Amino acid sequence: MAKAFLFDIDGVLTDSADISKELVKRFFAFKGKSVGYEDIIPNLGMGMDALCLKTAERVGVEINLEEALSFFKENYSTLLKEKKEIPGASSFIKDARKKGILRAVVSSAPSWRVEENLSSIGLALDDFDLVLTEKDVKRNKPYPDIYIKAMIELGVEKKDTVIFEDSISGIKGGKESGAMVVALTTTLGREKSKLSGADAVLDSFLLFPSFSSSDDLDSALRELSGKGRNAIRYGANWIESLERKAPTKEVMKEAIDKALNAMEHAYSPYSKFNVGAAVLSAGSGRIYSGCNVENASYGATICAERNAITTAITNEGAIGIDLLVVASRCNPPAMPCAVCRQVMSEFIRPDTPIVLVNTMGVIETYKFSELLPHPFDFEAL
Ligand code: THU
Repeated sequence: MAKAFLFDIDGVLTDSADISKELVKRFFAFKGKSVGYEDIIPNLGMGMDALCLKTAERVGVEINLEEALSFFKENYSTLLKEKKEIPGASSFIKDARKKGILRAVVSSAPSWRVEENLSSIGLALDDFDLVLTEKDVKRNKPYPDIYIKAMIELGVEKKDTVIFEDSISGIKGGKESGAMVVALTTTLGREKSKLSGADAVLDSFLLFPSFSSSDDLDSALRELSGKGRNAIRYGANWIESLERKAPTKEVMKEAIDKALNAMEHAYSPYSKFNVGAAVLSAGSGRIYSGCNVENASYGATICAERNAITTAITNEGAIGIDLLVVASRCNPPAMPCAVCRQVMSEFIRPDTPIVLVNTMGVIETYKFSELLPHPFDFEAL
């Protein structure tokens, strides 16, 4: 149940993330060195000290940090005047307050800057239960320290906390703290935000579904993160709403053919036991295959099933599997080993068909739950 929201400020509540870039650019220009955004962007989100020092290091210039910081303070308000609120941010925070959700600022910016930003969108420090800024933790983002400190001080658990972030370092640190991370697309854009590891991506707070109870809030967050009503859980992954249907005859035939073909590529000079496997990706409908690859150090051998699964993931990222075929030459056809069954359990659901075939045309079908009724499942997920 969501009990606390932790907000980064720049790029999350105000569209001010690029002020840092602009200030650093202007400061270096003032010092007679022209610096491009490409030298600055990788260092964003870690606080002004790190931003300055890392940029200076990258372009090979020595700077006086004190001088840089007072330059920023003097020029900040002028640049902030041109910036706007991320749509819906202030009313979202006020609504959260009314509904009893705890709110904290978790910013790597100095506190003067947080205050200026908040007041530019009609908020004040006392709209929050807790305000943490750059000097409140020794290690700044991308370390998770600021989020962990906020959760401890608010007295909430990570499973009940949602972090709103926009930068790579913020998203990374947020995820490491174990809480849910919602990425605002302000800084990275939609695609990069999705790839950043955030649990959900939001263009503005206006798009956040309104909630009147904690249950509403939880289902809104689940919908946002693709874990909503229609999504299906495979291990720790959620695959978007798909209508569950058994593989068609054609798909089944294609998967069996691919498993039998892959078996021909088996590298099995030690056991001479060839295995092929094919998996059907629930998201894309594509079929990926693999064979066993042995090694003189026997334990380093990779089974066909795991090879097919890792190939699928290499192509699509974490997937759900709707069908898995194992091909061998023995009769009855070979069963998947226990290690492969455990690996399969991460991507397969209990009712997913596991089809065993051999070169004599024998086909046996099991439900995954018959092969591994009690997989190890990481409870915290
Ligand atoms: N093998 C597989 O490819 N999959 C299994 O599930 C069981 C065993 C391979 C590994 C090794 O190359 C050979 O079969 C004999 O153990």
